[in-house]
Amino acid sequence: MELFFFVLISLFLIASISLGIRSFAYKTKEKVTGTGPTLPPGSFGWPIMGETLQFLAANREGAIDHKFISKRTTKYSSKIFKTSIFGENFIVFSGASANRFIFSNDSKFFIRWWPPSFQKLFPSMEFVPIEHDAAKGRKLMSLFFKFNEAQKLVASIDSISRNQLKNNWEGKNEVKVYPLVKMYTFTLACHLFLSINDTEKVLKLLYHFNNLTDGILSVPLSIPGTPFHRATRAMESLRKEIYLIIKERREALAKNLASPTQDVLSQMIAVPFDDGFMTELEIVDKILAILFGGEETTTATITFAMKYLSEMPHLYNEVLKEQREITRSMKPREVLRFDDIQKMRYTWNFVNEVMRHIPIVQGAFREVKVDITFVGYVIPKGWKLYWGVGSTHHNSEYFSEPERFNPIRFEGNGPSPYTHVPFGVGPLMCPGHEYARLTILVFLHYVVKMFQWEPILPNEKMKFKAAPMPAEGFPVCLSPHQI
Ligand code: HEM
Repeated sequence: MELFFFVLISLFLIASISLGIRSFAYKTKEKVTGTGPTLPPGSFGWPIMGETLQFLAANREGAIDHKFISKRTTKYSSKIFKTSIFGENFIVFSGASANRFIFSNDSKFFIRWWPPSFQKLFPSMEFVPIEHDAAKGRKLMSLFFKFNEAQKLVASIDSISRNQLKNNWEGKNEVKVYPLVKMYTFTLACHLFLSINDTEKVLKLLYHFNNLTDGILSVPLSIPGTPFHRATRAMESLRKEIYLIIKERREALAKNLASPTQDVLSQMIAVPFDDGFMTELEIVDKILAILFGGEETTTATITFAMKYLSEMPHLYNEVLKEQREITRSMKPREVLRFDDIQKMRYTWNFVNEVMRHIPIVQGAFREVKVDITFVGYVIPKGWKLYWGVGSTHHNSEYFSEPERFNPIRFEGNGPSPYTHVPFGVGPLMCPGHEYARLTILVFLHYVVKMFQWEPILPNEKMKFKAAPMPAEGFPVCLSPHQI
């Protein structure tokens, strides 16, 4: 029933948005199919809706790499192919050489692009040129690291990890890992980015966030019952909450009761950018984008790390051994420091293998700024581009036995450049990657030292919203270490 509804509204929406845009598509096609380089192989799909439904269906299964990309790269024997998604002409890239081309030309040839559902949910995108928007996210994260020097940051993450494990895990025989890890990552982000420490407020925001993630990449038709409608409603509630938080902060800053550098929110209010101070609408959107970008991704990584650790006890033992050694070397100090995190080499290799094995973020979008050519094909200005993460991570050209889980492949020099790209590379790389590393490693340090766990549903299926999640939230039997 839900699928029928989804297909029906998708047809309706895509029919309405793409009629105009498709005529541009074919004009552009004409322009480049004379003599000279041609468009990459591929199909624009159905006359009106292109291949949007196939793309979204693969996205919902967390399988864009093999159900959408690999299927077509195999069919066309090419690293890139053309298609039509969201009423736009698209080129899809896959493989290390394609990654190298994108990441080393990001500032020259491409700008960030977001699909229509994002654009509608974050309306400031209509007013702020996309380059400025992306640059602000980057600047805010770098200011965040400047004012929160690494030691202080690790101490905050350490304290929140321990609190969460003590209050929500300790003394329990069974827990659901996914929602508890989400509680940890979200509590941490609220504390560090917004200075919110009130659990009730955190829970309220988290409730709305859970409704947002379902519809963030969907057909942007706000009809009751659709994921996009739920996301729109969630966004309205989140906006109201965040507007209030901003108002309170402005008042506190005016009375010198808050500091302009205390967190990302203060910086958004107090720091001028190239185009002036951020508007209220922009601040709300940026806060929500940063919270959204950080929450699902780190939650998924920690949850799947714990899942793989329970399935492969020899890896659990290696991680535990490393973390116990670090604890021994810290004595008599108890709180982790930045240099302890730098020693977590095996654990970080293991996390990298988690991110290689499972697509935490399946890919990202760009718009092409000028006509370009790649491997003999032309890519016209204005076309959109999608680069897929998993299609490289599971390619046997770069990773032997790609389906085998093996953290050893990250030892020494590790994989070749541009083959392991969970955060992207270069100027548009994820601005939260270092924050993510600290969040994940500190939590894993404590959870493996405190507990062992066994899945209650060994063959639990995976589902995919904004990032992958175990369908039932990964319930486990928890036992504290006896030694
Ligand atoms: C395991 C964790 C994470 C993964 C795998 C991940 C992955 C990614 C990827 C692949 C991109 C797109 C890069 C590109 O287009 O080249 C991205 C963008 C982004 N990420 Fe992350 N990310 C993670 C954690 C975080 C965290 C913790 C934050 C914030 C605290 C964050 C905030 C963002 C933002 C704001 C963008 C968009 C930047 C822009 O507009 O240019 N991410 N991330």
